[in-house]
Amino acid sequence: MASLNKVLTLIALLVAVAAQDLPSNYQYYTEEGVKSGLEWTNGAFLLNKKGFRIFSGAVHYFRVHPDYWRDRLKKVRAAGLTTVETYVPWNLHEKTKDSFDFGDGQSEMSPFLDIVRFVKMAQEEDLFVIVRPGPYICSEWDYGGLPSWLQRDPSMRVRTSYPGYLERVDKFFGMLLPLLTDLQFTKNGSIIAWQVENEYGHYQEDVDRTYMEHLRDKMIELGVTETLFTSDTPTMRGDIGSVEGAIQSANFKYGAAEEFAKLQELQPGVPNLAMEFWTGWFDHWGEPWHNTHDPEDMAAELSVILSDEWYGNVNFYMFHGGTSFGFLNGANVLPIFPHYLADVSSYDYDAVLTEAGDYTRKYTIIREMILPNLPPIYTPEPPEQKSKVAYRGAVLTEYVNLDNLVRNVPGELQFAGMKLPLAMEDLPMNNDSGQSFGYILYRTTAEFGSGSNLTIVGHVRDLAVLRIDGKLLSKPWTSDWQIGSFGFWGAANRSFTFEDVEYGFHVIDILVENMGRNNFGVLSDFNQKKGLPEGPVLLDDNEIPEWEVIPFEFNSEWVESLTQYQPITGNVDGPAVLRGSMILSLSEEVADTFIDMSSWTESRGIVFVNGFNLGRYSSIGPCKTLYVPAPLLKQGENKFHVFELYHARNDLAFSDTPNLGPVKEPESTTQESMTTETESTETTETEIELLDYPGF
Ligand SMILES: *[C@@H]1O[C@H](CO)[C@@H](O)[C@H](O)[C@H]1NC(C)=O
Ligand SMILES: *[C@@H]1O[C@H](CO)[C@@H](O)[C@H](O)[C@H]1NC(C)=O
Ligand SMILES: *[C@@H]1O[C@H](CO)[C@@H](O)[C@H](O)[C@H]1NC(C)=O
Ligand SMILES: *[C@@H]1O[C@H](CO)[C@@H](O)[C@H](O)[C@H]1NC(C)=O
Repeated sequence: MASLNKVLTLIALLVAVAAQDLPSNYQYYTEEGVKSGLEWTNGAFLLNKKGFRIFSGAVHYFRVHPDYWRDRLKKVRAAGLTTVETYVPWNLHEKTKDSFDFGDGQSEMSPFLDIVRFVKMAQEEDLFVIVRPGPYICSEWDYGGLPSWLQRDPSMRVRTSYPGYLERVDKFFGMLLPLLTDLQFTKNGSIIAWQVENEYGHYQEDVDRTYMEHLRDKMIELGVTETLFTSDTPTMRGDIGSVEGAIQSANFKYGAAEEFAKLQELQPGVPNLAMEFWTGWFDHWGEPWHNTHDPEDMAAELSVILSDEWYGNVNFYMFHGGTSFGFLNGANVLPIFPHYLADVSSYDYDAVLTEAGDYTRKYTIIREMILPNLPPIYTPEPPEQKSKVAYRGAVLTEYVNLDNLVRNVPGELQFAGMKLPLAMEDLPMNNDSGQSFGYILYRTTAEFGSGSNLTIVGHVRDLAVLRIDGKLLSKPWTSDWQIGSFGFWGAANRSFTFEDVEYGFHVIDILVENMGRNNFGVLSDFNQKKGLPEGPVLLDDNEIPEWEVIPFEFNSEWVESLTQYQPITGNVDGPAVLRGSMILSLSEEVADTFIDMSSWTESRGIVFVNGFNLGRYSSIGPCKTLYVPAPLLKQGENKFHVFELYHARNDLAFSDTPNLGPVKEPESTTQESMTTETESTETTETEIELLDYPGF
């Protein structure tokens, strides 16, 4: 037995030594110098004239803490993948018009925006890179990555050749692309391909070819030399989203054979590429479950992609979803009630790595299935997983109520004498870019008493909390049927009847949350402006003439500098900011953790850790935890701020595991669907089928 063990050990050692001798991915493709980039012949790709299959994983640098980029990239490479793919979020890189941030800005997201560092790091980790610079990226990201200030132009038509749009795109590309063109493969860098626009076939039937041609030409003019792609779902949209000079690729979860067959019909002999092979799915607030995708179903489809028949290339979307931190999540527009659903902050996606970068069964499957298809290159072992800690919790000791929050807003941002409708995007602030994210307060004083009705004409975008004389009147969002009632987006012209109010003058506060802009499809067929952009507010049929309007952007610096705190002595009603802290001693590990909001049962809000906006929580679910990457914590005092709309607790609990919600029944069809019991003033107890559009 002992000698057998010795022999086995020796064999293992020899295998390891042999593996060490193999060239790296980059060495293998460049050992005789770089002569040419990604090309194709007879249904297969060549890279630098050697046979190459794209085995890629999607990781968005803007959704992963930059201290973890290297860890995630190592995990991509160790899965056997040789390429990493990322989108580029225009709305973060140019958050206010004409002021660009590629990692050198002032906001708390700035360190996430150093795309040059990310691309160089990918090369250090032996990965090629596919860049999808948009300008539209979908991605369950606010407005599909477009800056909200584009909407200040009343004639704006995004994703078309409208000159006012193209001018802004050209300016952004003019800043972005020159940072990356030197990092292309044929310049000894890692970028092997670029995508033009994104799922343009889903935009509308009558696509604007001039727009796609403009993007292609602009990219080339700015120095893009590597292969160009477009991506769509060809069985649904054919080639209407394509542009000459770019290879068409396919996005799907099921039906690889059908999609590839269609691609071959559209572009015979071009290699088959699944630009987005969906490994999971995303979640909306108010859905009853966390969407998951069976690993074995994924494996079955992957075997079709990899088969000799299709000889496919694949980008796993997502390989690692990460988090839509802060206010950056997107939303979907539905053809039927409730018309709009916002995405949760977690972008776990049931992907190959979890939101916290942990391995899943899908990781093992992919590694086993991809390795036999690689050329003789060295594949590293997967790095060790990071530990998670359930910290003992933080006590919230002080709070600032809404009136005191208003006192913390600089006078020049308190806009008096305003008329409704008025959207946050149209406020005269941020260097003529308006307010993009957060909450907006509409305040007025009027004379009324019990039985008076307050009517918001049009829709609320997206969720309004009502107070009178500082008292919270809105009920927390705890069930589906509420979406059609006052304060929710689902139905127009909803009224609220005041009760137990003495006749006289009262202060009315309507605080509206921007829950995230639609990111999919025709972005302009739905009002994407937030706040109360559609109509005036009536008190017993009379238009309230004047409002004070106060934006709450919740920038990191502002939150950290808040004053006017009061001690917490009992239950705190929102809207209010609560703060507290947790001390980590020198002997305690600073590790990843999850803030567990499941005991906040009548709540909705956001949480900041040491000034960083982690994202949203909501008792409606399905998601109940917020991922806290360790680099946001430190030894010593860690500060927490919670902005709660309804009813706060005075403690924050931690967990070492995420709670993304109950898991959905296994799927049986290719169509993502959800059924919700819905009761509203319009539809009572009706079962409504909500189709989840392919959301990219
Ligand atoms: C404001 O906009 C102008 C031009 O539109 C730009 O030059 C300036 O840098 C901007 N300022 C800030 C603070 O962003
Ligand atoms: C790429 O590297 C090779 C070898 O170091 C060098 O000869 C060549 O000039 C480089 N090419 C570019 C475009 O920098
Ligand atoms: C408020 O609305 C209710 C229900 O529609 C109505 O009965 C009542 O008369 C209204 N109150 C006033 C003051 O108009
Ligand atoms: C809401 O009220 C406005 C003004 O009275 C009206 O023009 C509009 O059609 C109403 N909308 C709906 C959906 O009833």
